[in-house]
Parts: sequence; structure tokens; C-alpha cells
Amino acid sequence: MAMADLYPQIFKRKSIRNYDLTPLEDGVLENIIEEINNLEPLYADIKVDFKIISQNDVNPRMMKKAPHYIAVFSENKEGYKTNVGFMLQQMDIFFSANGLGSCWQGIPKTKKNVLESSNLEFVILMAFGKANIPLHRTSTLEFKRKPLPQITDIRNKGSVGALLEAARLAPSATNSQPWFFKGNNHVIHAYVVKPNIFRAIMLKKYIMIDMGIVIYHLKLASEHFGKTSQIIFDETADENSPHGYEYVASLKIE
Ligand SMILES: Cc1cc2nc3c(=O)[nH]c(=O)nc-3n(C[C@H](O)[C@H](O)[C@H](O)COP(=O)(O)O)c2cc1C
Repeated sequence: MAMADLYPQIFKRKSIRNYDLTPLEDGVLENIIEEINNLEPLYADIKVDFKIISQNDVNPRMMKKAPHYIAVFSENKEGYKTNVGFMLQQMDIFFSANGLGSCWQGIPKTKKNVLESSNLEFVILMAFGKANIPLHRTSTLEFKRKPLPQITDIRNKGSVGALLEAARLAPSATNSQPWFFKGNNHVIHAYVVKPNIFRAIMLKKYIMIDMGIVIYHLKLASEHFGKTSQIIFDETADENSPHGYEYVASLKIE
């Protein structure tokens, strides 16, 4: 499987919800396991466990089945959902680059045997397999996303503009796009919306995963443009959160 620049996938990927249910060949699954073993964490001190499980181990609820799923388990520690989002989005992009479909799955649940197979907390599933529909978008106009001015107040965009566009296109649960970005060409501060009481129950479960996903898109884009990037905690950014948002982390770009 190819290990090229993954950045172009940001502009093509989409959630696949219709699969050929034939299991993938063993060699393909082995490559996927190898990729999982090499995922980069956002927070290396949080224990995680990724398992490939079959369609028989999942109760799809109202969703169509997929031939395979990745089940993610994690230690429940500060930042754990953001870490899972950051890591599993690497797989979403990897699948897209290697001709396979995938979809984050918050609604389907694993069966009890899977839950009992790890001593860490179950976090989320990702479906994957051969797509029964076209795998890629052909234009960014096909993405239903907020326009940039709604997700950032960085106006003098310079080289940071392309990074923000990569963030804008990131997937999120129910497509809520709960993010906001402040900063400049050297640092991007990421904030998450404080959901109002009506949306809180549903959104709260996933918005920190969404933040990990979007931070991965920022990082992938910055690496594509030959920059080194580092995820940091910036106290000043924390103190200057926009109204209705909470600070998550910053991407320092050099
Ligand atoms: C954390 C998370 C959970 C999701 N759960 C589901 C789900 O249960 N069912 C589903 O069909 N899509 C699910 N999605 C996919 C989103 O609906 C999708 O990413 C979003 O609408 C944007 O569309 P796109 O991925 O095609 O660009 C989930 C996405 C995320 C990030």
C-alpha cells in the first residue's frame, strides 16, 4: 500500500456508508494492522488499543453494515478523545489513499465479547471495506462545510490559509464542525464550541474526537508544505478563548 503524501486525500475523502460485504484479503488486512501499529499519537502517554473486528461483532443499529470495523479503546485520561480523533483520522485518510472506503461510526455499538476483550474504555468504531459507491469527491464544492470566515478570525491569511482550508474540510460527528481557529502564520490555536444545553448530550460525546480529527488535518497540511509542526498548550490562547468556545491546543508551525 502506498505511503505517498496523504495531503491530497483531504480534498477527496468522504464518508462511505455502502460497502461490498466480502471480507478483504488477508494481505490487505495485514497491511492495515501494520498501519495501525504505526499511528502517531497526539498524547503519547495515553494508552490506546485498536482492534480490527468483523461485521458479526457489531450491532449496526440503523446503519448499513460494513465488512470490517476498527474498534478503539483508550485509557480515560485528560485529552483521550482528542487523541483518538487524531489517531483514527490517520486511518480514514490512509483508507482513502489506498482505494478503500471508511466511515466514523458513533451510532453502531460493538457486542459484549468485544467490549470485554479490552481493559480500556471503548471509545468509537470506524467502518471500512470496499466501497459500493464512488470512493472520492471530485470537487471541494461537494463538501458541505462552513465557509472559512465562520471558523476563523485570521484575516491576513498568508501561508496559513491553506492549512485552515484543510481544517475546514475535516469530518465531524453530525457534520457539526465545532471548531474555531485564532492565530497567525506561526501558530494556530484551536477552540471547541461550548454546546448549548439542548445539543449538549449528543455533541459532548463527540466534539473532542472532532477536535483531534481537525488537528490532524492541520498537521498533515503543515507537513505537506514542508513545515515542522508541534502541538503545544499555550496559556495565553487559553486565557483569550472567544466567547462560547473553550481552548483545546495549538499547532506551532516552523
Ligand atoms: C466522531 C464521529 C462520529 C460519526 N458517527 C457517524 C455515524 O454513527 N453514522 C454515520 O453515518 N456517520 C457518522 N459520522 C460521519 C459524519 O456524519 C461525516 O463525517 C460528516 O457528515 C461529514 O461528511 P463527510 O465525512 O462525508 O465529509 C461520524 C463522524 C465522526 C467524526
